Amino acid sequence: MVLLGATGFTGALTAEYLLENNPGGAKIALAGRNLEKLGALKDRLGADVPLLKADVTDASSLRDLAESTKAVATTVGPYINYGEPLVAACSAAGTDYLDLTGEPEFVDLMYVRHHATAVKNGARLVHCCGFDSIPHDLGAQFTVEQLPEHVPIKVEGFVRAGGRFSGGTAHSAITAFSRFRQWRQVAGERKRMEERPSGRKVSGVKGAPHREADLGWVLPMPTIDPQIVLRSGRALARYGPEFSYGHFMVPGGLPAAAAVTAGVGLVGVASQIPPARNFLLGRIDPGDGPTEAQRAKGWFKVRFHGEAGGEKVVTEVAGGDPGYGETAKMLAESALCIASDELPQTAGQVTTAQAMGEALRGRLDARGITFGVLSS
Ligand SMILES: NC(=O)c1ccc[n+]([C@@H]2O[C@H](COP(=O)([O-])OP(=O)(O)OC[C@H]3O[C@@H](n4cnc5c(N)ncnc54)[C@H](OP(=O)(O)O)[C@@H]3O)[C@@H](O)[C@H]2O)c1
Repeated sequence: MVLLGATGFTGALTAEYLLENNPGGAKIALAGRNLEKLGALKDRLGADVPLLKADVTDASSLRDLAESTKAVATTVGPYINYGEPLVAACSAAGTDYLDLTGEPEFVDLMYVRHHATAVKNGARLVHCCGFDSIPHDLGAQFTVEQLPEHVPIKVEGFVRAGGRFSGGTAHSAITAFSRFRQWRQVAGERKRMEERPSGRKVSGVKGAPHREADLGWVLPMPTIDPQIVLRSGRALARYGPEFSYGHFMVPGGLPAAAAVTAGVGLVGVASQIPPARNFLLGRIDPGDGPTEAQRAKGWFKVRFHGEAGGEKVVTEVAGGDPGYGETAKMLAESALCIASDELPQTAGQVTTAQAMGEALRGRLDARGITFGVLSS
């Protein structure tokens, strides 16, 4: 498999993880647009690993890359700006593709433009292989699997996390906020094209701020994560004849809830106004990110409440620094999993639960991202 974007902040962490945690001996290469920078990374990591030059503005370099390997994982974002050429190259070559996007517009656009070609050529396009959306997608699937089969299932996810952003993530988030209208349009196009499961109902729960007995105040969290969970629910019959999912954040008290709402609102509005958006983007450098000491303090816990056929279950997915340490691990394990493990036959744009499910969960659990039942 090949890692593209290895010289970036998250890319370098992913490269380091891959080279240190590859017990199966998968053949790995690192790719980027700058061979000198890649060489410096290789020296720093002290690894004997092939380096490949590939630039997302050079379609022939991506074609060569996609035709030379089984799977490509990319950290070159914002994906709406840089992602499509590699999705196109992998779809055409029948090569598996994985990324770290959390940008709904990009994911929907790639479905509209490349899903059919990927299905025809047997390529799996797996977006959102980082904190967006693996703990939520695999955690919801784990919760469903604790509940009875063939009955309606209701799951709610509650996210708690502590950590810092990198420059690349901040640029991607601000870009995504600024393109809300474009996303609505492409989401509509996708909805018109995409087949719905027949005889089964899958629905999202918008929800409202409220108190949960075990967690305190929670706020609806309309990120890409619930969209991904619902896609898994549509693709997999195990989620039952009727599946509903609601996604919330746990801000840690009412004042924090008000501050989060105001902060997100402010960045959302500023992102729509070009001078304010440029001011925000100018304050953060892509390539920057939290230090090792800051990352070591990061943590996340996603709790799930599940209900079906009169039974209830509470589960939790937990790990360390959500943004980078664990995201690098999640992308690396996803890439190793898709390149080496026995998996269900899938093709086209697929979720992590659909493409890798239990195999990926086992890999992550073995590496400290735990999936557990708290009560049933
Ligand atoms: N979903 C999640 O949980 C999560 C978590 C972390 C990050 N992310 C996402 O991951 C992405 C990367 O974040 P980051 O902080 O690692 O960003 P970054 O440090 O800015 O890295 C970007 C990488 O893209 C490469 N690149 C830029 N233009 C290129 C081109 N034309 N051809 C080939 N490579 C090119 C850069 O290469 P050079 O080194 O040569 O400049 C660098 O390796 C962002 O979209 C971020 O949102 C998501």
